[in-house]
Amino acid sequence: PKLNSKLFKAFKCEIIKICRCKLTYVAAGLEGVSGRAALRELSVSNSESFWAAVARHRLCWSTPFHTVQDCDLSRGKIKWFEGGKLNVSVNCLDRHVHTCPERVALIWERDERGSEMKYTYGELLEMTCRLGNLLRRHGVKRGDCVTIYMPTCPLAVASMLACARIGAAHNVVFAGFSADALAERIRDAQSSTVITVNQGVRGGKVTELKKTVDTAMQSCPTVKQVFVAMRTDNPVTMTARDIAMEEEMLKEDVVCEPAVMNSEDVLFLLYTSGSTGKPKGLVHTQAGYLLYAALTHRYVFSYHDGDVFGCVADIGWITGHSYVVYGPLANGATTVLFESTPIYPDPGRYWDMVERLKINQFYGAPTAIRLLLKYGDQWVNKYDRSTLKTLGSVGEPINTEAWEWYHRVVGDGRCPVVDTWWQTETGGICIAPRPSDPDAEIVPGMAMRPFFGINPVLMDTEGEVLTSNNTSGALCMAQPWPGMARTIHNNHQRFIDTYFQPYPGYFFTGDGAYRSEEGYYQITGRLDDVINVSGHRIGTAEIEDVVNQCPAVAESAVVGYTHSIKGQGVYAFVVLKKGIDVQEADLSRQLNGMVSEKIAKYASPDFIQFAKRLPKTRSGKIMRRVLRKVVESDLEGLGDLSTLDDPAAVQEIIQGHEKLLSKNRS
Ligand code: WTA
Repeated sequence: PKLNSKLFKAFKCEIIKICRCKLTYVAAGLEGVSGRAALRELSVSNSESFWAAVARHRLCWSTPFHTVQDCDLSRGKIKWFEGGKLNVSVNCLDRHVHTCPERVALIWERDERGSEMKYTYGELLEMTCRLGNLLRRHGVKRGDCVTIYMPTCPLAVASMLACARIGAAHNVVFAGFSADALAERIRDAQSSTVITVNQGVRGGKVTELKKTVDTAMQSCPTVKQVFVAMRTDNPVTMTARDIAMEEEMLKEDVVCEPAVMNSEDVLFLLYTSGSTGKPKGLVHTQAGYLLYAALTHRYVFSYHDGDVFGCVADIGWITGHSYVVYGPLANGATTVLFESTPIYPDPGRYWDMVERLKINQFYGAPTAIRLLLKYGDQWVNKYDRSTLKTLGSVGEPINTEAWEWYHRVVGDGRCPVVDTWWQTETGGICIAPRPSDPDAEIVPGMAMRPFFGINPVLMDTEGEVLTSNNTSGALCMAQPWPGMARTIHNNHQRFIDTYFQPYPGYFFTGDGAYRSEEGYYQITGRLDDVINVSGHRIGTAEIEDVVNQCPAVAESAVVGYTHSIKGQGVYAFVVLKKGIDVQEADLSRQLNGMVSEKIAKYASPDFIQFAKRLPKTRSGKIMRRVLRKVVESDLEGLGDLSTLDDPAAVQEIIQGHEKLLSKNRS
């Protein structure tokens, strides 16, 4: 499409500004276009030129791309920068080693306070190369998938980058997941290689990660080798399959030829929960993902050369991928690897770290902010936080009280707080208050403004686009962007059905949103059966599947409820089989144990209510809407119960709920 020439000039200037990060380039062309908002408009209306310019300047290509994009949302087809060849690890390491080998790439904030370790870009490249060579020597090839089950640590980052270097995909599994959950992800990803550590250390507690891998191996016959790094000095039993990672790395060369990858080759899989019992392995590819992570990292957080970026997310989640590893490293930043918890050894941990490491951008989850708020301001005030410039929030809605405290106490009222909305599927931040003009308003608890190239729309229940403001609907994206997921591993049909079929021609996020009078977005929560516990996504169906495996259980229904710290808690309704005679307390304990063992501790129900029956429609569907209202004690909001098979079931559920609450209070 043709642009009017004045706008086009402005557009080009702003792109140069983006690329060179020099404000001096802006001035001239921008008169008549008011800054960032106008640029965003252009990035949407002329998205190809925008992304082409940014991709050329921001990434280092071995062969330039010939086609900017080839996308068809109605078919779930997404391709960016075809014809282009590059290597992600070269973009994250080698190019910075050339310009500043001594710059610190990683600061590993180990669990033991005050024992942080720094790694320069030169050192990280060396580690990555040795590991890349080691993997290659052990037969890992381009296109293979390596599962990484490690806590956040330098060798985990090097493992991810080593995969990228040799053209293998990685599949990082959060180290809090159980053996069963790990095994399911290894099998689905068809990994024959796993990388782990002997033990993990978090909050002063040791976790037996290698043992968990050993257990998982019993149901993963295709795994041929397990590399074991040593996080602690405690030896673990090694089998014929296991390889001592550090020892073997020492034997490898420090130079590792990077694989030349196509833009659309797979970079990684990352499993996340959906509304069915089976987690989905979302696939991200090389160039588009890296570009989007890098650009959002730079602009949403106002990252500048030399800043220390502190994202406290675990590398097992997408936030760790995009804003601990790929975004910051692509930008040559110093990135913090946080291994501990917000309250270990005391609730001053984050702010002590900010002072010690001189962190400039701090990015964390609302659940931690809510927890720390309860411990009081003194834990924050004790430490010097004057290096902080931007505060970020991610993963779940941030309530106004937490937002205000973050802004007023942590940031001394001087740092913009960016509430960033995005998903595993989007690859990077899609809606956030920044970038915007420096003095543009930020409304507490609102993600507000779409990023460059992002075109959100709200849909009504009929599937029509809502055009007015001050309105709510299902949040969709009307245009593709380079960071979005490309498919679900081995299940493209599920990818289409989940994201593109509900609103043909649009990407459906699964979230609802409100658009204010001013046109700002606020996320209102999931529209499907996915809940968010301490910022961790979990499908209620996944938990039900585990509960239903208990021989005493006839059926169950799991719903989320508002929890003052975790955001949402897990509430399970359980119906026992006829004639079962057990102590409810014993069975509760057993069910909690099963969920921890089959999924992860955070998925374990906070409440288990035993019921004689569940409210169902005449066609036999459990009325979750009703259950959700009951656990939120919103009896006024129960709504139309006329479709219920037996309305008396609701009364029983309400009474049972009250009984459980009062038992809990006493
Ligand atoms: C929720 C995490 C409100 C949302 C990056 C989304 C949010 C899901 C926000 C994705 C936010 C994420 N405000 N809700 N700022 N950020 N969410 O894949 O429901 O672990 O769909 O990615 O978290 O979770 P995921």
